Amino acid sequence: MLRLVTGGESHGPELVAILLGVPAGLPLTPEDINRELARRQHGFGRGGRQKIEKDQVEVRGGLRGGVTLGSPLVLAIPNRDFAHWAKVMDPWEVDEEAAQRRRIVTPRPGHADLAGAWKFDHRQDLRNVLERASARETAARVAAGAVCKALLGRFGVVFRSGVLALGEKVLASGPPTFELLAQVRDDSPLRTPFPAAEGELVAYVEEAKHRGETLGGVVGVVARGVPPGLGSYTHWEDRLDGQLAQAVMAVPAVKGVVLGAGLEAAGRLGSQAHDPILPGVHGLRRGSNHAGGLEGGVTNGEDVVVRAFMKPIATLRNPLPSVNLHTLQGEPAAYERSDVTAIAALGVIVENVVAFVLARAFLAKFAGDHLRDVQAAFASYQQRLVGWGPEGFAPGKR
Ligand SMILES: Cc1cc2nc3c(=O)[nH]c(=O)nc-3n(C[C@H](O)[C@H](O)[C@H](O)COP(=O)(O)O)c2cc1C
Repeated sequence: MLRLVTGGESHGPELVAILLGVPAGLPLTPEDINRELARRQHGFGRGGRQKIEKDQVEVRGGLRGGVTLGSPLVLAIPNRDFAHWAKVMDPWEVDEEAAQRRRIVTPRPGHADLAGAWKFDHRQDLRNVLERASARETAARVAAGAVCKALLGRFGVVFRSGVLALGEKVLASGPPTFELLAQVRDDSPLRTPFPAAEGELVAYVEEAKHRGETLGGVVGVVARGVPPGLGSYTHWEDRLDGQLAQAVMAVPAVKGVVLGAGLEAAGRLGSQAHDPILPGVHGLRRGSNHAGGLEGGVTNGEDVVVRAFMKPIATLRNPLPSVNLHTLQGEPAAYERSDVTAIAALGVIVENVVAFVLARAFLAKFAGDHLRDVQAAFASYQQRLVGWGPEGFAPGKR
């Protein structure tokens, strides 16, 4: 069973991802991981921090000579800004004066600050909450997702993502196709499939920033080449639709997850909502993909299509009312350097958490201690479906 644990604070020494259950024999390069980390840091509307820090992975275990050993894969991402924060965030000894200057006591609405203070008794300093609640932690999830992508890539699975809406500017409604998201350029300011529209969007972000406002939006992710039969209808916890929703919803600020045409399908007639099964040349094919690649909680060989809806960033330069937890008097919420929007990064993060969930289901089905065992299990399944599997799954088609 593939498992992921992350640790580390936003301004602490480093973030760590520990990935258990990666088979031995998987070749990895630093670029496999650093490329995804760089994609996550990109995007117009991010705060100054992305310019200070260029994330680079350091492997602390589970890899030898660029090949996985089957032992826990330990990935560290040092926080390059730690040098400036050591007095405040040192694990053993903090400088009281410096910590006092950075202390936060007025919780920000929309953040974990207040609920976290109640829960863990952090009333004295909400930094004890926000340092871990910060979406900086998603760098660790992305590093792990990059390994999952490298594994799935060996079996023909590829990913695309992009921004479909920014604030009230809707660029594309409905579930995105792989072809639409293939138009996204990673180096474009907002990672939309419509580069020509991005000038206007950049101005929209600038205007929001000028007004002390923040923006959310919608991203789409498509995974192509996912084999049929991942997940299960036999037990609720094994349903892959539920697992995908959980993992994507667990990304900070994501408040809605939709698979395929789920949102729109609710208002359609049944005949317009489902996907005809048709005879094909190398097996079966589907007339459409409203289901977004999953039926009964099981992948059906079509593209897996996910959308994530992000609320606007919670830290506001013109803060909402809050209460000072020491004096219990009304005060504006705390402000600390923050993004105006992180929508461009969200697509990359969702891509990588989807990769983790798919890789976990993939390794549950094609289990093996060494990559060769996984390949043999995969080939045997492919053989079993010859002639009646999804067209694209036939041997030689991938
Ligand atoms: C990539 C990314 C970057 C984010 N950057 C910020 C930020 O700079 N400031 C902020 O207040 N929230 C930011 N957020 C959102 C908060 O982390 C999130 O709203 C908060 O942890 C509360 O969790 P919840 O919104 O899921 O309830 C970001 C989220 C993501 C995915």
